[in-house]
Amino acid sequence: MKDEVLAALRERGGYVSGQELCDRFSVSRTAIWKAVSKLKEEGYEIDSVPNRGYCLLTSPDAMTEAEIRSYLHTEKMGKSLVCFADTDSTNIQAKLLAEQNAPDGTLVCSDQQTKGRGRRGRAWDSPPGEAIYMSLLLRPDIHPEHASMLTLVMGMAVADAINELMGGESAGIKWPNDVVLKGKKVSGTLTEMSTEMDCIHYVVIGTGINVNTQKFPKELDQATSLRLAAGHNFRRAELIALCMKYFEKYYALFERTEDLSLLIDEYNRLLVNRNREVRVLEPGNEYTGLALGINNQGELLVRRENGRVDEIYAGEVSV
Ligand code: BTN
Repeated sequence: MKDEVLAALRERGGYVSGQELCDRFSVSRTAIWKAVSKLKEEGYEIDSVPNRGYCLLTSPDAMTEAEIRSYLHTEKMGKSLVCFADTDSTNIQAKLLAEQNAPDGTLVCSDQQTKGRGRRGRAWDSPPGEAIYMSLLLRPDIHPEHASMLTLVMGMAVADAINELMGGESAGIKWPNDVVLKGKKVSGTLTEMSTEMDCIHYVVIGTGINVNTQKFPKELDQATSLRLAAGHNFRRAELIALCMKYFEKYYALFERTEDLSLLIDEYNRLLVNRNREVRVLEPGNEYTGLALGINNQGELLVRRENGRVDEIYAGEVSV
């Protein structure tokens, strides 16, 4: 009941009478009062005025099911939701849930991680109270070779979600899926999957977003947060819901063709490397070229000095 009452108060943005809530959820006045009391205990400030009802004044930046659900309007993505105050890694937890038959679109979130992992075997610093650590479990009916493109789809969703929340067009993508703000990394995604022959059991797309981080360790001097870029805090639950909204939209387009052909224009619009010189860092083969954008498979097209266009499918590029 608590989750429903919170969602109803947030949706209204003003006073909702106790009677209206009783009618809507077919419960007693006491049940509504209890739900409101629980929300207050969790740090929500709710005004109650006789004859007017309840009004949500302020809410904590909590990484809880109730808080995320109150912003979520998707059909599938995040509808099955698991939240931790603390866990090893949301990717690890999402994989465990996948083995226990958790449904397609299950989202795992945590306020902090003790074993946060990044790409290339790196650790992902995961302190509490300031960032998003989330992993989305998918069971796509696609060929395993196509699954790595889902990382790019999530990159686009995160960039668009950040732009909507910040009210501007400041976030972009550094190929393949790092999201950057003012040239610094604000989000990264690690995709893992379980496959057999030419079928996929599941894919876990794990994303970290630096939301209200004020200070990074010295070695992370190329990292930034929404807070550092905008000068004020953002609600993590709202950003998670926006990521799910955009991911659901882009995933539907991806599923139609099993490639990025319907998303390529939007991706290239967000690509900060586009029409810029990049250094391709392939093992034993480093060179500089002009990044032209991606192709339908998500490979970066780089024009070399001799005019040849290379398709970079793995590895890293630096700006
Ligand atoms: C990168 O190196 O850029 C990818 C970072 C991915 C971090 C996220 S945080 C949520 C999920 N759980 C993890 O352990 N890793 C991913």
